[in-house]
Amino acid sequence: MSRLTRVPGVLYGGDYNPEQWPEDVWSEDAELMREAGVTMVTVGVFSWARLQPGPDTWDFAWFDRLLDLLHAHGIAVDLATATASPPAWLVRAHPGILPVTADGVRLEFGSRQHYCPSSPEYRAAAVRLTRALAERYAHHPALALWHIHNEYGDHVTECFCARSADHFRAWLTDRYGTIDGLNHAWGTAFWSQRYGTYDEIEPPRTAPGPVNPTQLLDWRRFCSDALLECHRAEREALRELSPDIPATTNFMSMFKALDYWKWAEHEDFVSDDAYPDPADPRAHVNASLNYDLMRSLKGGRPWLLLEQAPSAVSWRPVNVPKKPGLQRLWSLQALARGADGIMYFQWRASRAGAEKYHSALLPHRGTASRGWRETVRFGAELARLGEVTGATTRADVAIVLDWDSWWALEVDDHPCARMRWPDLLRPWYAALHARAVTADFVPPRADLDGYRAVLAPSLHLLRPENAERIAAYVHGGGHLVCGPFSGVVDGHDHIHDGGAPGPLRDVLGVSVDEFWPIPDGEAVRLDSGAEATWWSEWIEPDAPDTEVVDSYASGQLTGRPAVTRRPYGAGTAWYVSAHLGEGIAAVLDDVLRAAGVRPVLDVPEGVEATVRSGTQGTYLFVLNHSDHDTRTQLTGPYADGGTDLLTGAAVRDHIDLRPLGAAVLRIATDSLGETDQ
Ligand code: GLA
Repeated sequence: MSRLTRVPGVLYGGDYNPEQWPEDVWSEDAELMREAGVTMVTVGVFSWARLQPGPDTWDFAWFDRLLDLLHAHGIAVDLATATASPPAWLVRAHPGILPVTADGVRLEFGSRQHYCPSSPEYRAAAVRLTRALAERYAHHPALALWHIHNEYGDHVTECFCARSADHFRAWLTDRYGTIDGLNHAWGTAFWSQRYGTYDEIEPPRTAPGPVNPTQLLDWRRFCSDALLECHRAEREALRELSPDIPATTNFMSMFKALDYWKWAEHEDFVSDDAYPDPADPRAHVNASLNYDLMRSLKGGRPWLLLEQAPSAVSWRPVNVPKKPGLQRLWSLQALARGADGIMYFQWRASRAGAEKYHSALLPHRGTASRGWRETVRFGAELARLGEVTGATTRADVAIVLDWDSWWALEVDDHPCARMRWPDLLRPWYAALHARAVTADFVPPRADLDGYRAVLAPSLHLLRPENAERIAAYVHGGGHLVCGPFSGVVDGHDHIHDGGAPGPLRDVLGVSVDEFWPIPDGEAVRLDSGAEATWWSEWIEPDAPDTEVVDSYASGQLTGRPAVTRRPYGAGTAWYVSAHLGEGIAAVLDDVLRAAGVRPVLDVPEGVEATVRSGTQGTYLFVLNHSDHDTRTQLTGPYADGGTDLLTGAAVRDHIDLRPLGAAVLRIATDSLGETDQ
């Protein structure tokens, strides 16, 4: 697979905000970047006010000098379109740019991301700036990548102003045509909510009680689309004026407000900003989940970790630094999961502003600091890993992720407010992670054929056509595991005829008679010893061959089925009617065994193992996230070991790792034998 940019090797660098420094500091920066092995920096993210000090005043001279200086030092540039923070003059000239909350409060200038996605003035000004930058720098030799905007949806994901309302109405008209279509979709026969014309519709502003759930669902869809329109307008300008340079925008991991399946279609490659919390001992599992998602968003294409913190962030209530070695390990983790570049926020620590306590590659203390030593050491290590770039990962397991379903799941007035997509997903993912089983994420419309097992921890909203695809996959020999509260509503958030699991009833061979949420602080036992919290269901196996795998052993559902399995065509479908937390692991063990899914290696607790394969070789990553020494046996296709690219040493039989240690083995090709790696 081709490189992300024309810059060879693993991209290494970070956000660089030179406008915060006198120019004599820039040359020191460029020298130090070279010393650290930095290959690319992101510039211009918050430079709008400096680049365009007034409506018709432009100041590119300083930026010319900056790009020339970086180029002279061999540092490539990821050039931001600088549109995430409109300058004061623009906001004062067009106060309608400022976003409005659901309560009608206009958010003031003085922070960042203060714009209404539907504001024509904002959009026009953003495209104008993007064009000006592209016209000037499209052919600059330092330019390697366009960085569109910055973290769409950060701080402000929605605006409730009058213009957003107009835009929402237009979006709804496109979607539904006649007002009758909308009335049906929104179920407005309920609570006298019928609309006579589109003009009567408003965004779901703060209202006396629960707002129409389909109105809310459409609002979420609209807000994601409205920001995507902003993004596409900049993307189009770049495509026209700078067609040879790739473009990306930095995603924010598994972010609820934006349907990244849709967004990723407009990226040359996916990039991500990831801020796992060093205070959270399970942070690496969640990070791994996010990285698998990033890898999956463009069908396995390598992605770019565009921002992470070298040590502490500044925006948590308590900002714990990364202990020595942790940023290295977590960076290698991103590489292990498909990243081709490791970048940071930010290069030089700010002395003023809201992020002055945020860590940087070059900390306040300068080159005497521990942080700087790690920056230099890691740059040298990354330089040895260039051959890994372009290599991809094969997964036997797919996890279905659907933003529509996520949004529909998390509206008010549901049987149990604890049912949140990330909380439902995490224990399923953690079980795979602990077993070193690699998973892709897929949208519900995906072609599932290449996967041995498909996991759907929550498919609350399920369109019949997607259910058909899932059923066909099982019929053809696939293994499906479906979590609770799934197949409940259709694309309009209407309950499926006959109730849950709706269009999956046949394949699963069960009907849900009644949802049976579990009060906070209580748990319900299952025969297997697993415990359910938050959620259980009264289910009826209604196919003759539905087998009860586990039953409720305490509470009001005692004796009733909790987990079922049904042969369907050449495959098998499991239904898990309760939120089992970590208890899902035992169910998944059964499924993985039945589906013939094998781990990369049998790993000790706290060790992560993944594989990337490319034209230059197969690379086995083994990472020790624990606080003790570990030994991992090399077995199967990796039995003969290989060369550790980090040390150059030959490794056979097993890998011993110190706490936070890592190995990246280029596997001897002979040992790959019959495998399809
Ligand atoms: C985000 C932003 C950066 C910076 C960092 C701080 O990722 O994109 O501008 O604010 O957070 O962690």
